[in-house]
Formats: sequence, structure tokens, C-alpha cells
Amino acid sequence: MRKPVVAGNWKMNGTQASVTALTNGVLTGVRSAPKVEVWVCPPYVYLSQVANALKGSAIKLGAQDLSDRAPGAYTGDICAEMLKDVGCHGVIIGHSERRAYHGETDAVVARKMVAAHAKGLIPMVCIGETREERENGSTEAVIGRQLDALMDADGGMRALQAAVIAYEPVWAIGTGLTASPEQAQAVHAFIRTRIATRNSALAAKIQILYGGSVKPDNAGELFAMDDIDGGLIGGASLKDSDFLAICEAANSRG
Ligand code: 13P
Repeated sequence: MRKPVVAGNWKMNGTQASVTALTNGVLTGVRSAPKVEVWVCPPYVYLSQVANALKGSAIKLGAQDLSDRAPGAYTGDICAEMLKDVGCHGVIIGHSERRAYHGETDAVVARKMVAAHAKGLIPMVCIGETREERENGSTEAVIGRQLDALMDADGGMRALQAAVIAYEPVWAIGTGLTASPEQAQAVHAFIRTRIATRNSALAAKIQILYGGSVKPDNAGELFAMDDIDGGLIGGASLKDSDFLAICEAANSRG
């Protein structure tokens, strides 16, 4: 049985004050979802602050990106060693916003996954098709290509043993459009089948989250699907009561 995961991707939002309030809100309510692994992923500059607040709790800390390089002369970048040093458990990798606004290719995403894993971070790797790709019928081709890049990378299969996959259709992110449970389930099943072509035990155990306009009122039906093991939550993770309601929806599956 795969343990459900609910991760809050706070993206580029917050202040020291609002981050403290949100963290405390999540900490207070999360006990009612004991069967769920809960992550919060604040912006880099608030990681230490949130790490301190989370001490002694079961909530995991994640970053939103990392460099694939070792420490050195890379102005503005943050490496896996630093994320470990400030208490991160894992890191979101390959989010469509990184792919779109920072030109991250499948190869870069794969290297970041391997770099994170090499330093003991859990990679939460995002994949997903754009609206145009869905409409022209290439969803499976795109998802297949993104997955193959992960599996073909040097050290990729090893890193995937520890990884979580997040299927985030780009057209559903921040748009209020959600994939229907059936649409999401179909892609999640495709992902598992694709991984099974290389390693069936890994395919059976890897957690595959859905992301894209998950809200308290649609989380239950999404998480009820066989291959949906939780969610990666954007907008709704910025409001503690909404995020906790989504955690509880995953808890009833767990
Ligand atoms: P929304 O939940 O705001 O659609 O964002 C999803 C997402 O991108 C999480 O990483």
C-alpha cells in the first residue's frame, strides 16, 4: 500500500510573518491526518525559518528547485548540500514553471533529480503536458518522453527508487481547470505502465501525485482513484484550512 503524500508548493509567495502564520496553522491541524505524509515547500529564503518551526513534527520540508551542480562559483544558485544543511527532506524538480520560465529541459530535470538523490534528498519530479499537447493528442507521447529522460539518465533508475512523481497537466495549474478524476487516473496508469517496462516493482511502489487546481471540494474524488497517491497543491496550500482539508481527504484514502 502506497502512503499518500500531500505537498504544498508555496511558489513565490509569502513574507516572514505570513510564512510563520501558515506554518503554525498547518502544524496545528495536521494531527488529524496521521496516515498522510505532508510536505511544505516554501521559497528558499524562508526554508530555515520553517525548518525551525517544524522541529519535532512529522511534516517534511521541501525546496522548490535546486542546482544540479556541486558547490562553487554559480551565482544565485542553491545546491543539494545547502538544502540538506538547512533541514530539507526533499525538493520539487522540473515544475512546469521552471521548464517554461527558466528553459529547463528534460535532460536538466533528470540531472537535478540525480543530484538531489545523490545528497539524500527525495526528488519530487513534475511532469505534464500543455493544453496544446493535450488537444492535439500527444499527452502520452509527452509524458513518455519526460519519463524516459528520467529513466535513461545516468543514475536515473537509482534516483527514481527514492523519488515521488507529480503529474501536473500544465493547463490545470492555477487555472481553476482540474483534470477529471478519470483523465488524471488514465495518465497516472500510463506513468506506472511506462515505469513498469523498466522495473515493475518500482512501478508498483512509486507514489504518483496529481497537481493542478486541487481544492478541498475536488480532492476526495481525485484521491479515490487507484493510481493517484495524493496531491501537489499550489494555490490552496496558501490557506491553512484548505490545505488541511485536502490532507484530510488524502487521509481517508490512507
Ligand atoms: P495550483 O494548485 O495553484 O493549480 O498549482 C498547482 C501546482 O503547480 C503545484 O505545484
